[in-house]
Amino acid sequence: MLLPFLLLTFLYPSSSLAKSQLFKNSHLSVEDSTSFLISEDKYFTAGFYKVGANAYTFSIWLTNSVDKTVTWTANRDNPVNGHRSRLTLHGDGAMVLTDVDGTVAWSTATIASAAAHYASLLDNGNLVVKDLNGGIIWQSFDSPTDTLLPSQPITKNTQLVSAIGRGSPSSGYFEFHFDDRNVLRLKYNGPEVSSVYWPDPDKTVWENRRTIYNSSRYAVLDSKGRFYSSDHFKFLAADAGKAGIIRRLTLDYDGNLRLYSLDNTTGLWSITWQALLEAFQIHGLCGKNGIFSSYPRLECLCPPDFEMTDPRNWNSGCKPKFNLNCSMKPEEIEFKYLPYTDFWGFDFNAFDLLSLDECKNKCMKDCNCQGFSYKVGIGLCYPKSILYNGRTTPYSDIYIKVSKYVTNINSSKLQQLGTICNATEGALTVGSSPKMLKGSSKKMIWINLYSFLTAISVVEGLFIAIGWWFVYIKEDDHVLMVEGYKVISNQFKRFSYRELKSATRNFKEELGRGGSGVVYKGVLENGMVVAVKKLEDVSHGEQEFWGEVSVIGRINHMNLVRTCGFCLEDSHRLLVSEFVENGSLDKILFYGNKLLGWKERFQVAIGVARGLAYLHHECLEWVIHCDVKPENVLLDCNYEPKIADFGLAKLLNREVIGSNVSRIRGTRGYIAPEWASNLPITGKIDVYSYGVVLLELVSGSRVSDLVMKGVTEMEIRAMKRLCLMLRESLKMGGESWIGNLMDSRLKGDFDCKQAMRMVKVAISCLEEERNRRPNMEAVVQMLVSGDEEFYSDAAESIQFSSLSTQ
Ligand SMILES: *[C@@H]1O[C@H](CO)[C@@H](O)[C@H](O)[C@H]1NC(C)=O
Ligand SMILES: *[C@@H]1O[C@H](CO)[C@@H](O)[C@H](O)[C@H]1NC(C)=O
Ligand SMILES: *[C@@H]1O[C@H](CO)[C@@H](O)[C@H](O)[C@H]1NC(C)=O
Ligand SMILES: *[C@@H]1O[C@H](CO)[C@@H](O)[C@H](O)[C@H]1NC(C)=O
Ligand SMILES: *[C@@H]1O[C@H](CO)[C@@H](O)[C@H](O)[C@H]1NC(C)=O
Repeated sequence: MLLPFLLLTFLYPSSSLAKSQLFKNSHLSVEDSTSFLISEDKYFTAGFYKVGANAYTFSIWLTNSVDKTVTWTANRDNPVNGHRSRLTLHGDGAMVLTDVDGTVAWSTATIASAAAHYASLLDNGNLVVKDLNGGIIWQSFDSPTDTLLPSQPITKNTQLVSAIGRGSPSSGYFEFHFDDRNVLRLKYNGPEVSSVYWPDPDKTVWENRRTIYNSSRYAVLDSKGRFYSSDHFKFLAADAGKAGIIRRLTLDYDGNLRLYSLDNTTGLWSITWQALLEAFQIHGLCGKNGIFSSYPRLECLCPPDFEMTDPRNWNSGCKPKFNLNCSMKPEEIEFKYLPYTDFWGFDFNAFDLLSLDECKNKCMKDCNCQGFSYKVGIGLCYPKSILYNGRTTPYSDIYIKVSKYVTNINSSKLQQLGTICNATEGALTVGSSPKMLKGSSKKMIWINLYSFLTAISVVEGLFIAIGWWFVYIKEDDHVLMVEGYKVISNQFKRFSYRELKSATRNFKEELGRGGSGVVYKGVLENGMVVAVKKLEDVSHGEQEFWGEVSVIGRINHMNLVRTCGFCLEDSHRLLVSEFVENGSLDKILFYGNKLLGWKERFQVAIGVARGLAYLHHECLEWVIHCDVKPENVLLDCNYEPKIADFGLAKLLNREVIGSNVSRIRGTRGYIAPEWASNLPITGKIDVYSYGVVLLELVSGSRVSDLVMKGVTEMEIRAMKRLCLMLRESLKMGGESWIGNLMDSRLKGDFDCKQAMRMVKVAISCLEEERNRRPNMEAVVQMLVSGDEEFYSDAAESIQFSSLSTQ
């Protein structure tokens, strides 16, 4: 007991008052800056925390974090005056926070039967009131605000409620709690609507891998960064397993739930997990009618003919500059078209196969309809009763019902500008007279701009041609990029051309050059090394491009190069993907001075097959690569292959026939015979190319060079001859022939069974009749299992087909 006391005295020289315990009938007072409780290990401090010019809360914060991060607040919605406010522990067990005039701002409401002995702050950040026997009669862990600490459970009776803004501790609109069905959820609970946004509201409980059948409703983060919930939800921190790290799980004011770890040397936080990867998944961010846009910066926008309801606060969204009422005639109403926009939810009906005009009519006739989303092509029409959760998205267009008579409310931009600037500087002020305080504290105007607007230093209002209000924020003021925070999470992102130009140092280091464009090496601001591909020859509209790259961005498989973002600006079309250390397979296999061993070759064969199988069969959107070749197989540091350049077939401006896939893409020597015909393209085209790659892995040389150079027809015939030869050898049996095919650089150091298997699979992949080729799933099976039955079947079909092709 003595040591910490000495330490404290040392740390706070004038602080004979700094306490580790608050005994009954004593108090902490707001004026005395040395009057606080401190945990024995000194990590946590409890005391008066300044939240405005003359406003204080009683809070617990992390002593060593740079920004003195608050983990709990007693009176978040009811701050007290900077004079004569005090926290008193009464003998009857109650801990009471009183304001300057003696009014109770907060109290523990403990039952008077238990007599308090002292209050103390435990090492885990829990403020407890104990009785004489050491029993806990009250603890702060039972009434969390927006943060859970390790070992602090969330239960039936507790929930987290976000703060309303950065530096404004009062209750916001986002909640984290167990719902009536025992499922842990994130919910936007705004003044007008409420809406669950996590787990994915478009999926069922089961699809989200939760259960409703455990009614214990208990979830907790342990000391090693593992979180478990009774609804089967669980996650691990990025640094899980390490003990002794200070962590906190906070429902941030932007509606995302994040786990943070404190770096105890710098006092900075790192995000080690977050519930939602992308901000647009959060509901209610921009209030009613507001639209969340993530490009070119994260911001809220109002639709045309709308303006911010409260220029200082996006919570209240946008209000129309016109009146719509049910007695208005169709001639007085029109629809404003907002491309790439959606308002999630609140559809009161759903129609399909409607033309745009029919959909407009439905909405026009229904007085409840505020607008509708429309998907071209399938003709999906969703009329909406209220416009909430607006966001930009490539998948939907919105039509908003507006009156033709827009009353030009005087929204001079300069006026608005002034208000916003004042607001950011003003921070929070609580009047000093008790009367004023009492009057204002309930409905206190917490000056907060919404999340990303809070930290603005330079704010500009700009009324641009289409009539949207933009509120510019400092370029680097990303929601997560709050000072002292570092983002580990890695999301699919839209980049600006300028960003990519600087990441690649003006496209300096060229990594490769292919049919689709040139690839450059780059380093993003967060330190991630990436490959940036400048696409050539893309003539698609923005919407199509965005849609296509979003599909690519969702594809995630260990044998496929991960695409982490794109750039779509003027005529620039770029893709940003992970950088793969060992470069492309052709360089190592054909030209490298390093020999690729047999084990690695077999691993590459299986990996590429797995990646293609994923593209062909498991992806939500069926993707045909169309250009499988060693140049498009990259090898990571462990020689695990990653397929590059997939999903580009539809993006590139090539001749498109029938199935939307270009015909000219593909590389000589690897293209299947049906390219020449008019048959629609299927995944079997990749199977053929894969067959060529397999033979190249075995032989270590360009099979595409083995075959005669010349017209495509000739190449195909040459490949046919090669296959016939191999079939003959297989039929004759024995293993000696494989030695002739095998890469001599391996000096006989290979697994003969695996090599035979690869050749057999290659031959079946190279079938001219595409229906005879196996699909990629079957290929994986054949390579992995080495099932003998397959061989006899395959051998039969080989004989059969060699007869039929002669
Ligand atoms: C319900 O959840 C609790 C807490 O996670 C767990 O201890 C308990 O075993 C679970 N009960 C069942 C029936 O799964
Ligand atoms: C900082 O944290 C590490 C664990 O990550 C711990 O071993 C070390 O003792 C801590 N240092 C201090 C000064 O608390
Ligand atoms: C409906 O709006 C029109 C046009 O703004 C207005 O003339 C009319 O008085 C309104 N009717 C009602 C019932 O508010
Ligand atoms: C808008 O306000 C400005 C001054 O703030 C004034 O000069 C102008 O006349 C107003 N316009 C309308 C349409 O009220
Ligand atoms: C608010 O801004 C206006 C216009 O910029 C300025 O005249 C006024 O003095 C500001 N008020 C405060 C309290 O800073």
